[in-house]
Amino acid sequence: MSAAIARPALLRRALPALRNSNNSLLPVLPSRSFSSTLLRTSPPNTSSPTPDYATPDPSRPTHFGFETVTEAEKRERVAGVFTSVAESYDRMNDLMSFGWHRIWKDHFVSSLNPGFFPLTSSPDPRTAPQHILDIAGGTGDIAFRMLHTAHVINQNPNVSVTISDINPAMLSVGKQRAQSQLPASQQAVLNFVEANAENLTSTKPLGASPDAPTQKIPDESVDLYTVAFGIRNFSNIPAALREAHRVLKPGGIFACLEFSKADKYPLFNEIYKRWSFGAIPLIGQLVAGDRDSYQYLVESIERFPSQEEFRDMIVDAGFVVGGKGYEDLTGGVAAIHKGMKPRRV
Ligand SMILES: C[S@@+](CC[C@H](N)C(=O)[O-])C[C@H]1O[C@@H](n2cnc3c(N)ncnc32)[C@H](O)[C@@H]1O
Repeated sequence: MSAAIARPALLRRALPALRNSNNSLLPVLPSRSFSSTLLRTSPPNTSSPTPDYATPDPSRPTHFGFETVTEAEKRERVAGVFTSVAESYDRMNDLMSFGWHRIWKDHFVSSLNPGFFPLTSSPDPRTAPQHILDIAGGTGDIAFRMLHTAHVINQNPNVSVTISDINPAMLSVGKQRAQSQLPASQQAVLNFVEANAENLTSTKPLGASPDAPTQKIPDESVDLYTVAFGIRNFSNIPAALREAHRVLKPGGIFACLEFSKADKYPLFNEIYKRWSFGAIPLIGQLVAGDRDSYQYLVESIERFPSQEEFRDMIVDAGFVVGGKGYEDLTGGVAAIHKGMKPRRV
């Protein structure tokens, strides 16, 4: 990110955009005077010869659960996991989390308040068009909530959502759910797109033939980018963050809901880990007939960076974050991270 981002004038201009008063996009900032502890930006680029992790490299090592594999192999094996779990995914989510994932998703979406768009240049923020890109959107849980909040609660019909996922099996379940659960007005503004989050220059509508031309999600075309329980499965997270930054408009918001670390509460953390590693693969075996996929899911949670490490990756990708940059849910079992693509000076 440019060193100019750290200039006080720009920070002052960015501050109102980060303010939260029920209709906000970013966590609450205290009203005391602004200081560098309240808004994080990446340090000036010193051009150090660090490896370019944001450029995908199929042969670079990464991890698949506790195993070390190449980026290409991880992509293939993650695809296998989600193809295998697609049909049982929604039922298993409820069983594994005792329904808590619904509460986290509700909170995530209401904290973003889609449909009320105070940063718009339109005269009325309640009718302003807003385009939401739900990455790794799977079977549609986040996208459906976004549409409900925008169209029904905020009464803004000018909000559209693209659900994007690398896995057509997950998207197909999502499309069937949309057809059976959403009113026609919401189905009309919902698109399903096959794409690898690490490269949004090459996407296809769900169901397009293999030789159909690919499409690029244009630069600066998205108002709100969401990713829920998806990013830990990516082979190259910096590449995905770079793509998020590319497709977002200046002032647009990156928002991520992901499993995280509950280690601030050691006893609770111990019980949670015993449950995860002991029960979840077993439930996967009994209910979905697939122990290995659910073993991967718990291992991938364990391998995901801490709240602070992930926050720093978001800042490194060029976003500004308010406060500490994340919100813990259920003691840190999950966390919400948000960042804003800076507006131009
Ligand atoms: C645990 S599911 C989450 C689905 C949905 N967001 C939710 O919260 O219910 C993770 C999703 O990430 C998708 N995924 C994994 N790697 C991906 C990638 N590189 N690009 C896009 N989607 C990916 C999987 O196909 C799967 O649908």
